[in-house]
Amino acid sequence: MRMYEIIEKKRDGLELNLDEIEFFITEYCNNNVPDYQAAALLMAIFLRGMNERETADLTNVMANSGDRINLSSIPGIKVDKHSTGGVGDKTTLILAPIVAACGIPVAKMSGRGLGHTGGTIDKLESIPGFKTSLSTDQFIDNVKSIGISIAGQTGNLAPADKKIYALRDVTATVNNISLIASSIMSKKLASGADRIVLDVKTGSGAFMKTFKDSVKLAKAMVKIGHNTGRKTVAVVTDMDIPLGCAVGNSLEIIEAIDTLKNNGPLDLRDVSFELAARMLELSGIGNLEECRKKVADAVLSGRALSKFAELIENQGGNKEVISNYALFPQPVYKMSYICEKPGYIHSMKTDKIGMASLVLGAGRETKDSKIDYSAGIMLNKKTGDRVETGDCIAVLYTNREEALSQAVSLLNEAIVISEEPHDKKPLILAYID
Ligand code: URA
Repeated sequence: MRMYEIIEKKRDGLELNLDEIEFFITEYCNNNVPDYQAAALLMAIFLRGMNERETADLTNVMANSGDRINLSSIPGIKVDKHSTGGVGDKTTLILAPIVAACGIPVAKMSGRGLGHTGGTIDKLESIPGFKTSLSTDQFIDNVKSIGISIAGQTGNLAPADKKIYALRDVTATVNNISLIASSIMSKKLASGADRIVLDVKTGSGAFMKTFKDSVKLAKAMVKIGHNTGRKTVAVVTDMDIPLGCAVGNSLEIIEAIDTLKNNGPLDLRDVSFELAARMLELSGIGNLEECRKKVADAVLSGRALSKFAELIENQGGNKEVISNYALFPQPVYKMSYICEKPGYIHSMKTDKIGMASLVLGAGRETKDSKIDYSAGIMLNKKTGDRVETGDCIAVLYTNREEALSQAVSLLNEAIVISEEPHDKKPLILAYID
């Protein structure tokens, strides 16, 4: 078999068989296929697409390219949740303790921030002492002892995806439904959960900008889940507006704690509670209405907040942060972003708000950049809100004084003010099973 012929076949719009997909992945991972040939094939896939069978084969081959975590020693059904990435998306920090407080084990492997989107692991590391780097045995033992662990990837999960994602990132081949679906699902399959809830984001802050493409991606991933014997459902949620008011690592942890105290922003509460209820439903402990009640009860009783405190303590963090937010790293500079004309917030280009937070220090410009956990943005106003001249729309937090003007320019581009009121859109847009 020759790589040249595989590229030629896909370039001409033909279907690749399993042997060809296996050859590409194995030989590329063994450094026997150069980047230029792999990039040519990825671009051919990007332009010509892959059918359902090819996408499933690519997913399985990538899932089998490294370790597969075995969670079978943890009693009960393990339900995972994955978000395709957004701005201010801190739902994992809320739903994971809720689900664990309802008696369903949570063995959650999470990622770091990618571009303008944040990552759960970076957020958790803003809690003084919190360790996210665990061995597989430690990770499993934590779930067995307290019912919950959230860690960065342990072991060598789907290394083929890692290598191919890095190449896609620099060859303009990220935004293809088959490639995104196989990338995400290969990691989910390798990380061992029995059932999967997917939160597919849609809008200006998401990888998928249109509702139609988001539904296509959700259907592709749900199909892969079903074809590999894992019950999978997807919820399509709005990312045309940041979720909640906090964007940035410790700011988002504080907002998640407030939500577990039943005191957070309503949009964040609604999406997190719904995803938690869908996870509980998938675990089989009740119908959707019963699961929604269990979620509300876990929060109102304080059990979900206690579970979060237990998680922090068990992974070496200082659980006092829950009652004393001054224990989080504090920034030197805090600057108000002031409204210059009266009207209504018509829209927010959410990726630009993510970028503004990144330049303030909350994200990575390159993969080796160091994160400033105290940096970020607190939004006081969001799409649909009335604003007057002089109102504080947002507060910017940073240790980089020189970044403030660039962040302000990005917010000027991001926040569109109009004279007419604008209806707020629903947040939960579709459910696919
Ligand atoms: N997240 C992933 O893990 N992979 C993609 O391809 C896109 C988003």
